[in-house]
Amino acid sequence: MLVLGIETSCDETSAAVVTGDGRVLSNIVASQVGTHAPFGGVVPELASRRHVQDIIPAIRAALEAAGIGLSAVDGIAVTAGPGLIGALMVGIAVAGAMSWAASIPAVGVNHIRGHLLAVFLRPKFGEEGEAQPPFPFIALVVSGGHTSLFLVRGFGGIELLGKTRDDAAGEALDKGAKILGLGYPGGPEVERCALGFEARPRVRFPRGLGSSASLDFSFSGVKTALAMRVRSSSAPPDGEERDGLCKAYQEAIVDVLVKKAIRACRGHGVRDLVVAGGVASNAHLRREVALQGQKAGIEVRIPPMQFCTDNAAMIAFAGVEKLSRGVNETGSLRAVPTLGIADLADI
Ligand code: KG4
Ligand code: ZN
Repeated sequence: MLVLGIETSCDETSAAVVTGDGRVLSNIVASQVGTHAPFGGVVPELASRRHVQDIIPAIRAALEAAGIGLSAVDGIAVTAGPGLIGALMVGIAVAGAMSWAASIPAVGVNHIRGHLLAVFLRPKFGEEGEAQPPFPFIALVVSGGHTSLFLVRGFGGIELLGKTRDDAAGEALDKGAKILGLGYPGGPEVERCALGFEARPRVRFPRGLGSSASLDFSFSGVKTALAMRVRSSSAPPDGEERDGLCKAYQEAIVDVLVKKAIRACRGHGVRDLVVAGGVASNAHLRREVALQGQKAGIEVRIPPMQFCTDNAAMIAFAGVEKLSRGVNETGSLRAVPTLGIADLADI
């Protein structure tokens, strides 16, 4: 089965061709970071306009890089939500039109399902990726919009164990970067500054819900603590001081993510953990979760960087199950910006 994936939920326009067993034949990502950076965050209207410009060239490039024509595609999978309404509608409209015009089945996919199944993607024919996780596994999906823990029993059995009660981890990193006068997106900026600070930071930020038995997260407290600290200093933190704050801030966020993910594994007697989403490209998180996983006898898998941040390959693969069941939503595809986690198993 060859699936064309289309992703336009936020600020990356992406198209990909993936086989039914997760081989990625192409994965084209047109990033809009440069468009939004001057505004310090994603401007929804600008995102929609850029998607309109970039989606057809991205699809053409994905088919060309895969060495196939549209007629070879067996199914189209497009992000239905969650995301920005205008941005989602671009992908939905294009997928619906292509599906109708070329008589190819199309299905809507939950973006979060895409992130948590990205670990099944294999780079290319002939190139072995990491071994795929056995079911059941615990998945920590940690992105700009979501921070959630799932128990994944199978492609159709995904149970939510906990989620953030306020900011997502990536959102907290983005907002923290803004408080410190750093650029957008903030996660990589905080990481870069933290890397420049070798000593132990003198500050220790609060670990929101860190000692609670709940598997929910809370990152608004750590963000407020940073804001208050910056507000109380006579001059905006710079140089070493700023880098130290970044390191302490990143540590506080990563600490809770890792602790709760390991706790979820122990609590459910599961020995495999998957970490996915944009924040999973953070080196400190990757190192820390690998270390703590090893100590706890838990096998940790993280998709390659290119499949952690938003991409259409994960969307294509997330649509495989639905397409294999013969589902076809041509004519009924809908953008659902608030698509819930409860809808995961289905979509
Ligand atoms: O998954 P993603 O690309 O988009 C969403 O679905 O939200 O995640 C984007 C988020 C942003 O908050 C960004 O700051 C964060 O992932 N991020 C990082 C890193 N790279 C991206 N956070 C920390 N360290 C990174 N290296
Ligand atoms: Zn995402």
